[in-house]
Amino acid sequence: MSNVLRSRSRRVVALIALAALLALGAAAWVAHTARALDVPWREVARAPWRAAQLARGVNPAPVALRLPPAQPLSAMATLGRALFYDRALSASGRMSCASCHDPANGYNPPPGSAAVMFGGAQLRTPGLRPPPSLAYLYRQRPFSIGPDNEEHETTPAAQLRAAIAPNARAAKLASDPAAAAANRVPQGGLFWDGRADSLQAQASGPLFNPAEMDAGSPQRVARILRDSALAAQFVQLFGPRIFDDAQRVVGEALFAIARYQFEDPSFHAFDSKYDSWLQGKAKLSPQEMRGYLAFTDPRRGNCAACHIAAPSADGLPPLFTDDQYEALGVPRNPAIAANRDAAFFDLGLCGPVRRDLSAQQRYCGMFLTPTLRNAARRPVFFHNGVYHELRQVLEFYAWRDTRPQRIYPHDARGRVLRFDDLPPADRANVDRVDAPFGRASGAAPALDARARRDLVAFLRTLDDGWRAPPR
Ligand code: HEC
Ligand code: HEC
Repeated sequence: MSNVLRSRSRRVVALIALAALLALGAAAWVAHTARALDVPWREVARAPWRAAQLARGVNPAPVALRLPPAQPLSAMATLGRALFYDRALSASGRMSCASCHDPANGYNPPPGSAAVMFGGAQLRTPGLRPPPSLAYLYRQRPFSIGPDNEEHETTPAAQLRAAIAPNARAAKLASDPAAAAANRVPQGGLFWDGRADSLQAQASGPLFNPAEMDAGSPQRVARILRDSALAAQFVQLFGPRIFDDAQRVVGEALFAIARYQFEDPSFHAFDSKYDSWLQGKAKLSPQEMRGYLAFTDPRRGNCAACHIAAPSADGLPPLFTDDQYEALGVPRNPAIAANRDAAFFDLGLCGPVRRDLSAQQRYCGMFLTPTLRNAARRPVFFHNGVYHELRQVLEFYAWRDTRPQRIYPHDARGRVLRFDDLPPADRANVDRVDAPFGRASGAAPALDARARRDLVAFLRTLDDGWRAPPR
């Protein structure tokens, strides 16, 4: 063999060896990254650049968020702020809006609260449901039953984003596909059952509810305000004759409280770690990143199908709710006083608190999907406050179908009482198709112990008030 040939074949061998080494290195990188992110290696191989960014904790597709403008409070909202903290209006003299919606706790109930709050003159009358957070309601639409709002995936920009960050809605099948097809999806509204349409209409509820502030009559409220330090503000804003009309005093007071919630930035701060990450200004830890991927993966957490995690096509930050109603079949909470009556059921949309939909059995057991912003700060979870820790919420999602015996009580003969907080006739409304649900009893859960811990870590990135650590 000539020298030329020999050196050429040596070069070929060297090239093949190099290529093999590179391939091995790439395979090792793919395997390592897949393990670090807890996703199948195929996904890493399909989008290596995106995976590399995610593995570094970085958002591969940063966005400019359209945040609400920060402006000084109007005179109306300033009055509303005073009323929000005013305990004199309550029968007990010890309760204001802030007692149940704690501004230091993401407007959730204060830390350590029981499943429900106690109100009334002696603060001994129990409520029926835990207070939701008051934050992030500024975009809430009125209650309606109408077409599914699929804006998230139909606009070209949304499709593009979905390709980069597979997220959001794609996997939500809805518990009642026929209803969705017929454009009959309940959505919007305030309260767990959507019975109030506006912050203003809503606030008269707690103000006069005997289990809450129990303010008595409009006449009593008007009298207290007339004799209070706020009287001058009322006269200034509404004219010298305002106190002649008690109904009007209450109406304006409620409007002022609503303005305060609407205008004050603390109700929509959007300063969580996740908001910074969305804008490319923060890195998630490896555990938070795995949690994010489990949250948005349609086959695992699938949480983002209902708790929207992606900004809207035009840059509105996500609120972690799709504003729709679902029956999840959470276990009954014996700690709720009303539940001592075995025949009592809180069925959400179809009553007994709201009454207009009680004939529509298909909605029985459905509750509004809550925001998950500041949810890690909540002392109670779900519409009946049955859980006190996020860990338990994640176990519910993982085990409701796969290990029901760990979620529900059993009867004397050892039979598991699935969906025990719904009358048998309404159990068909429970969502059994959308992941993480829909797996057989005994099957592997969609979320293992590590994924559940990762999800809790991710949920903590949704708490407001995050500050970048000093460098
Ligand atoms: C005793 C505790 C308590 C007090 C005091 C209280 N609330 Fe609430 N709030 C609740 C509960 C419980 C709910 C949920 C009720 C339901 O869904 O049926 C709620 C719901 C709300 C909602 C709807 C939130 C949502 O996400 O849909 C708003 C808004 C609200 N309250 C505002 C106020 C205002 C304003 C005040 C003061 C005037 C106030 N609350 C005082 C317990 C309280
Ligand atoms: C099919 C829609 C759907 C999916 C999927 C879903 N959720 Fe929910 N989520 C809801 C609804 C509806 C509620 C309220 C149910 C109730 O109280 O009866 C809720 C409540 C919660 C709460 C309690 C919040 C509060 O204020 O009490 C947390 C936390 C939560 N979900 C986290 C998750 C996580 C994490 C996942 C993914 C593992 C997930 N959700 C998947 C619809 C969904």
